[in-house]
Amino acid sequence: MASEQPLAAVTCTAPVNIAVIKYWGKRDEELVLPINSSLSVTLHQDQLKTTTTAVISKDFTEDRIWLNGREEDVGQPRLQACLREIRRLARKRRNAWDGDPLSSSLSCKVHVASVNNFPTAAGLASSAAGYACLAYTLARVYGVESDLSEVARRGSGSACRSLYGGFVEWQMGKQTDGKDSVAQQVAPESHWPELRVLILVVSAEKKLTGSTVGMRASVETSALLRFRAEAVVPARMAEMTRCIRERDFPGFAQLTMKDSNQFHATCLDTFPPISYLNAVSWRIIHLVHRFNAHHGDTKVAYTFDAGPNAVIFTLDDTVAEFVAAVRHSFPPGSNGDAFLKGLQVRPAPLSAELQAALAMEPTTPGGVKYIIATQVGPGPQILDTPSAHLLGPDGLPKPAA
Ligand code: DP6
Repeated sequence: MASEQPLAAVTCTAPVNIAVIKYWGKRDEELVLPINSSLSVTLHQDQLKTTTTAVISKDFTEDRIWLNGREEDVGQPRLQACLREIRRLARKRRNAWDGDPLSSSLSCKVHVASVNNFPTAAGLASSAAGYACLAYTLARVYGVESDLSEVARRGSGSACRSLYGGFVEWQMGKQTDGKDSVAQQVAPESHWPELRVLILVVSAEKKLTGSTVGMRASVETSALLRFRAEAVVPARMAEMTRCIRERDFPGFAQLTMKDSNQFHATCLDTFPPISYLNAVSWRIIHLVHRFNAHHGDTKVAYTFDAGPNAVIFTLDDTVAEFVAAVRHSFPPGSNGDAFLKGLQVRPAPLSAELQAALAMEPTTPGGVKYIIATQVGPGPQILDTPSAHLLGPDGLPKPAA
């Protein structure tokens, strides 16, 4: 078949985000509207990102998608919801401006390919980066310029927060149509340059209870979750915003830990209960509190999502000492050299005083599989070079994709 040139090919990247005020629970499952607002930190794409290419062509007879090189079912409801939303927004724009050069693209089918530069099943919020990248890339290919919160959100709620860099809030909104349930930046990535993020990968296994199923059960059965959404989160959103604006690390760190703990408490309050933390997660929690107690100051914070991996926040002057404490308490397995990935952390000695204060016998090697050191980063990016495309001109994955 003589193939026409594609009408458009676009490749973008999008970041992972980690919530410091957690989203847990929907008031509308279909529109993906949350029961409380949430706030997150966007992680740097040098360490963690999704790359997505979208190609539209009159030649394509159906929408198709490849994830990490494997073709997946494009009929999956969340994917369909994103595609429907973006085409609706594109149609709206075309109606508002006749003669749009991209108007013919609306009748075209799309081919999409997406890859992560980190293990998908490691519980590192890959769906947030994935759906943010999908929304952002589809918007470029179909010529949509409006707010993309509602598109990304339909894929995965937390994905709308990955549409921006720096510090991002997702306002729950009040309207039933969800038009006011949008993500917006609280502060840019340049705002707090000393902030560092360590991801302690505890288990690369797929999680037992997915977020969607877990939060549905919590909404149905947890009185604590209702209390949290109504009486706790509004004041925490305001306080967290203040801590970020003023770069108040102890305030930021304490609230981050408390909110993570309350999220996991609502999981335990769910019936039947849900538990995402394992014994290694709990040891990390104790390690952080003992490290802070030793310093008489809150120098490190942990937060956990729907899995056992810890995300640690600290400042650049503390990273090396904390990594030494982790190495001591969780000796690396056979991957000694590859234990620390990402940003360089200079080796630091562990003082006898700190070692005594941790009061922890080292675990059997490999409890923490590896650490990814990263920092706050920017929002989605467009890659201009054609060589970045994951799909060839024929709309099929390039051999390496
Ligand atoms: C614990 O955004 O994955 O990570 O909207 O059902 O796809 P769905 O859920 P998802 O939930 C994320 C939950 C969390 C907390 C957070 O990121 O705010």
